[in-house]
Amino acid sequence: GAPDTRTPTGAETGVPKIAKGQQGAYLTTANGARLRDTDHSLKAGPRGPVLLQDHHLREKIMHFDHERIPERVVHARGAGAHGVFVANGAAEKVTRAGFLKKGRETPVFVRFSTVLGSRGSADTVRDTRGFATKFYTDEGTFDLVGNNMPVFFIQDAIKFPDIIHAGKPHPDREIPQAQSAHDTFWDFVSLHTEAQHHTIWNMSDRGIPRSYRTMEGFGVHTFRLVDDAGATVLVKFHWKPKLGVHSLEWEEAQLINGIDPDFHRRDLYDAIEAGAYPEWELGIQVFPDTPEETFAGIDLLDPTKIVPEELAPVQPIGTLTLNRTPRNFFAETEQVAFHLGHLPPGIDVTNDPLLQGRLFSYLDTQLTRLGGPNFPQIPINRPHADVNDMLRDGFHQQAVHAGVAPYRPNSLDGGNPFPAGDREHAFVDVPVTVAEAPKVRAAPASFDDHFSQVRLFWTSMSPVEKEHIVRAYTFELGKCYHQAIKERQLQCLANIDPVLCEQVATGLGLPAPQPTVPLAEVQPSPALSQVGREWPAD
Ligand code: HEM
Repeated sequence: GAPDTRTPTGAETGVPKIAKGQQGAYLTTANGARLRDTDHSLKAGPRGPVLLQDHHLREKIMHFDHERIPERVVHARGAGAHGVFVANGAAEKVTRAGFLKKGRETPVFVRFSTVLGSRGSADTVRDTRGFATKFYTDEGTFDLVGNNMPVFFIQDAIKFPDIIHAGKPHPDREIPQAQSAHDTFWDFVSLHTEAQHHTIWNMSDRGIPRSYRTMEGFGVHTFRLVDDAGATVLVKFHWKPKLGVHSLEWEEAQLINGIDPDFHRRDLYDAIEAGAYPEWELGIQVFPDTPEETFAGIDLLDPTKIVPEELAPVQPIGTLTLNRTPRNFFAETEQVAFHLGHLPPGIDVTNDPLLQGRLFSYLDTQLTRLGGPNFPQIPINRPHADVNDMLRDGFHQQAVHAGVAPYRPNSLDGGNPFPAGDREHAFVDVPVTVAEAPKVRAAPASFDDHFSQVRLFWTSMSPVEKEHIVRAYTFELGKCYHQAIKERQLQCLANIDPVLCEQVATGLGLPAPQPTVPLAEVQPSPALSQVGREWPAD
């Protein structure tokens, strides 16, 4: 039959898949010459030596020697799946993005991951989970590169190498790994106290999900939506799992790590193969786009803060269903390249300094990880929208571009025009006013509150969730060698809640310190507890 020319996501490319050759009637070299024998090297007699002229041996070994590409610098371990996103139209009034119009169906690829472990690490470790979604919209790809926790450790991307160096294995022994990167991790988060909010989420049941299928997802940052008239709102994205939010008990997580280190990966694939397609509702919290970029006194540019759902309900805008496992892990899950700058018309960024730094980091790291600048041409990364990008050449160029050189203005071949009417379908950078201010390496004063929302989280937990949090802090801090680090983290816990501090201090056999900042007055937010978190009602 005709060769298969579609990408793994179903996009038509016109280019036959080379992989087809691996299913042919006979074996060949990479150049297509039929092989007589691929089991013996060419030797001077059956007892050798092997001849340097054995071009088949050299091709086979050369290719094998280069099978590995660098693993991701973070989020190295992951599992992916294909699916579809169906919009319910509720976002139409706030964004011009076509894929959010009522009834639109958009193919997606989702990759779930742990953050700190390497590619071969276990699934059920205590860690944040990545939840990255590629929407192949007909107006260009939209990547929502989120996590299963709504806040992040740092407020400024310039601190990302610091937090990751503190959490990854030590340079000398290459231990420890995952969240229990004890002395260095606790040293960093107790000194850099803006990390305390994300840390308590890690120490809670959210740090050991039951399944990828039972995790919430969050875009974390505030984004800006723009409608046809140019009006804007600020939003935060939320994924809510149909199966509700569920976690493992710590002891379960430990046993599963030993018995089945691929537990989450297997669970995702088995569910899809069995037809139990995982589903999430995508929702947005919507805030007025005011010059202050705050809501209810919360700075929307601070990625260590949430906006409680009681203050801004999550409004459902569509449903994601994962319904197909990858055919080839390397081609799809490993080579997929997410990037926050993949934005269709109708969705724009804000000045969140963490988001701004990420806009640089993803493309930059993928240049190395995927071997040059042409990774958008890898099948899993190809947009479903038409591409006419004026880029040329480079390592691993797959396209054979015709015509004169791509430059503008250009009178020779029509010159890469913007046809009449095209601009109204184009991406528009929202012309947000930039403050007239001196250049400074500084953060706004509103970023200084590092404890009130940590207290909000703790206060919102049920008794059993609090017990799990105390046990997690006690276990993880108990692994530190340096007493001064344990004491400094106990000081942070005292600033969050005296009962939390007292219980962890007792477990560690240390005295509980007094708070050094006034304890915040907070009303519990029931939506932060996992208890009763089920599929949102219609
Ligand atoms: C990878 C989420 C902050 C740099 C990832 C992935 C996710 C993610 C889900 C895995 C993508 C995949 O499956 O391929 C987040 C979230 C953040 C955050 C939610 C904060 C809100 C940052 C920051 C930086 C950064 C601040 C750097 C300044 C990276 C890099 C990768 C990565 C370099 C590897 C990408 C690749 O090799 O393809 N992140 N991240 N991230 N992240 Fe982040």
